[in-house]
Amino acid sequence: MRNNIILIGFMGVGKTEVAKGLAESLNMGIIDTDMEIEREQGRTVSQIFSEDGEKRFRDMESDLLRKLSNAKKHVISTGGGIVLRDGNVKMLKALGPLVLLVSNPEVIEKRLSKNSDRPLLAGENKGQKIREMLAKREHIYNSVADLVVDTSDLSIDEAVKKIKDHVKGAKK
Ligand code: S3P
Repeated sequence: MRNNIILIGFMGVGKTEVAKGLAESLNMGIIDTDMEIEREQGRTVSQIFSEDGEKRFRDMESDLLRKLSNAKKHVISTGGGIVLRDGNVKMLKALGPLVLLVSNPEVIEKRLSKNSDRPLLAGENKGQKIREMLAKREHIYNSVADLVVDTSDLSIDEAVKKIKDHVKGAKK
């Protein structure tokens, strides 16, 4: 048992905040794949996208997952596109259960309304981009998830509790 918990899902569903709450309440370490990549690269995700392109960023995500293969007792919060590669899904599944956080598009749009560090949602028509990307990705997220938690109307603490209850139940 590696005892990790992996949070996956679209931008703005609360992965980073829920990961912090989970890690704190379960006394686990925390890894945020976007933040790890930014630290290694000394650049923001937006800079990497504009200077190197999305494909290179996706390669960085895969490289990072290879390096994390020995991680134990960590909550791993992932970038919203990490599950687009089958190889990444395999590596994540070997680390622990995949907890999918979902929210409705209105909530996502509101949460990200003032945010400018998501290169794939930059520019006009953020709401439309969110809906189009969700439509393309939804089936992938759902097909790889071990647990789905809808955070649209949940506080961070409520989401943390749901995940904790599930993880405890699964171990029995
Ligand atoms: C992306 C999500 C972002 C980040 C990058 C691409 C995506 O992470 O990895 O901007 O393709 O959905 P968050 O989900 O943490 O915002």
